[in-house]
Amino acid sequence: LFSHLPRYGGDPILALMDAFSRDPRPDKVSLGIGLYFDEQGRLPVLSSVRQAQEALLRNGGPAPYLPMEGSASYRQAVQELVFGAQHPAVLDGRIATMQSVGGSGALRAGADLLRTQLGCTQVVVPDPTWDNHFALFEGAGYQVGGYPYYDTATAGIAFDAMRRFLATLPARTVVLLHASCHNPTGMDLDAAQWRELAGLFAERNLIPFVDMAYQGFGDGADEDAASIRLLADAGLEFLVANSFSKNFSLYGERAGGLSVVCRDAAAAEAVLGQLKVTVRRSYSTPPAHGAALVGAVLQSPELRALWLQELTTMRQRMRDMRQALHAALVARCGQAHDFGYLLAQRGMFSYTGLSPDQVRRLRERHAVYLVDTGRLCISGLTSAAIDHVADAIAAVLET
Ligand code: LMR
Repeated sequence: LFSHLPRYGGDPILALMDAFSRDPRPDKVSLGIGLYFDEQGRLPVLSSVRQAQEALLRNGGPAPYLPMEGSASYRQAVQELVFGAQHPAVLDGRIATMQSVGGSGALRAGADLLRTQLGCTQVVVPDPTWDNHFALFEGAGYQVGGYPYYDTATAGIAFDAMRRFLATLPARTVVLLHASCHNPTGMDLDAAQWRELAGLFAERNLIPFVDMAYQGFGDGADEDAASIRLLADAGLEFLVANSFSKNFSLYGERAGGLSVVCRDAAAAEAVLGQLKVTVRRSYSTPPAHGAALVGAVLQSPELRALWLQELTTMRQRMRDMRQALHAALVARCGQAHDFGYLLAQRGMFSYTGLSPDQVRRLRERHAVYLVDTGRLCISGLTSAAIDHVADAIAAVLET
């Protein structure tokens, strides 16, 4: 029955993780997959999360099914973190928020909602974007196109081309956007550009779908959500997928949220109902544990304050690593190459402009793992690894 099935070639990002773990070289450095490591090269367990976990264990208790849309207190915490507790859309009850299976689950549930309820079949994603955006939307029955975003010539954003392209799209095209810390380029739109886009979305009747996987890794938890709040202020109806994988270091817990901003509370209620239908048809109800941890942290003033401090530490470490790699590369290469992009880009990733062949040589000769597109995960760097990584990059740039 199944022997003719095509072999799966693997996911370009997840396959790197496997190759890295099989690599026996002691000086190997993982700068491929988007994981935040601490200065010792370990995946951290945040103190705020550990304390929430301990309280959960102390209190014990049974594990009933969650509602289809997820835990009510978690959903409220998500909404307040993403939009701000005092945002009029929150206070008016105009946002339908469900607990999702990570950020990916939120993207898929949102895609399903838009296709089944509004008949959407076209989505455009930034060029470049996270690879899995293609798979997720194609899997939900969409045609996925790209819009101009990153200009390799200037290592900046091709905003004019982006705006011109978006203005040609038919009404109800879904436009996937990254809230902040764009994956893979690390280059974000500024407030004026977001404002301009908000006007364009309203005028052209486009449906923004914002992916926020790195809240707090750019400038701060509120600052990184400013783009989303700006769209809500503009009175748009749109979707937001958010993830706690990175900013809570809870990758395997699959804690995320999908929020749909609606015209009024009645529409939000209808949307939530249809989201329940989507959930019931696929996995029935969401897992409880990760959401319980995130919810407990966000709802306790002490743990929330501690988490915000830990988030600041993570953000600062990534900035330090950017500066350290920049200095180490300038020391090796002088003015022969411009490494200014390392300082201009934000969040977890840097887009190095290294070719697939240079990335292959980094991996094969120096045990330094990047994604083939030249994306380098800044948070995989440690002070101890900087010299090795800078030597390796300088070597592949020379030959
Ligand atoms: C990444 O882009 O590396 C992460 O979001 C991990 C993933 O699932 O691809």
